[in-house]
Amino acid sequence: MKLWLRRAGIGLLVLVVVLAAAIALLVANGHRKAERRIDIAAAGVPERGDAAAIERGGYLFRSRGCTDCHGRDGGGLTFVDDGKGLHLHAPNITPAAGSVVASYRMDDWDRAIRHGVAPGGRPLLIMPSEDYNRLTNDDFAALVAYLRQMPPAAGGPAELRLPMVVRALYGAGIVRDAAEKIDHAKAPSAPVPEAVTAEHGAYVANACIGCHGAALQGGRIPGAPPSGRPRRASRPAKAR
Ligand code: HEC
Ligand code: HEC
Repeated sequence: MKLWLRRAGIGLLVLVVVLAAAIALLVANGHRKAERRIDIAAAGVPERGDAAAIERGGYLFRSRGCTDCHGRDGGGLTFVDDGKGLHLHAPNITPAAGSVVASYRMDDWDRAIRHGVAPGGRPLLIMPSEDYNRLTNDDFAALVAYLRQMPPAAGGPAELRLPMVVRALYGAGIVRDAAEKIDHAKAPSAPVPEAVTAEHGAYVANACIGCHGAALQGGRIPGAPPSGRPRRASRPAKAR
């Protein structure tokens, strides 16, 4: 009996050690994945600064979810903090001195917003660029025109703290970043006339698929905590 107990104890210990080693390996793999370099040829969209572009860009900024994480003034918000190690704070994306976008050029905006890739080629981890990959060149240029003329807001860089389980799942490829989900070879959407049509609605709904699924079928939001209801959940009601 005693021998049996001791064997079970040793077996359990071995199991715990093996599990801990597996998690450590996955976390390390996640770290490597977050540091990988992604080469994206940006679309070379010309910069705009005209009043029509700024107006349209402001509408897109307010209606496509940007404000839920970056704030209405663009200074950045803490949009998730579960008190258990998951803390997500989006960065200041106004032309304030020292903001991540202070030295952005058009191609940098394109890689970040439509491809989920930071200027150095590192993948963005939380920013839902898969929702914005389908933006037309015109809408993308309008969004940037608006962002570039925003008054510099107070607010610092991104702060992303992820629990070990999430980092292990990322390392295992179960939690994926935007750059992994996007088909980077796909050309931007062709312009769709703005009207009350299913075609234009399908274009707008590209910003819903990150959470509601590619066929809007619903289900667990990828990467969100199991009990988590992100702040953006109320978005449809307060769109515009
Ligand atoms: C769900 C929250 C969320 C939404 C919605 C969101 N962002 Fe972000 N964004 C982030 C976070 C978090 C980061 C920090 C980078 C990362 O995820 O690793 C970021 C980073 C950025 C960056 C800087 C990338 C860099 O160089 O580090 C830009 C530019 C940006 N977002 C623009 C936008 C725009 C424009 C929109 C709307 C079209 C938008 N974001 C919507 C969360 C969000
Ligand atoms: C950040 C994730 C996210 C995005 C993006 C998102 N939704 Fe949702 N949506 C949710 C969640 C979560 C719920 C569940 C609402 C709740 O109970 O809080 C929801 C609920 C809904 C509902 C049901 C509301 C009800 O009466 O219960 C509709 C309709 C909806 N979303 C439409 C949309 C549309 C249209 C878009 C794009 C324009 C969109 N959603 C984008 C997460 C999202």
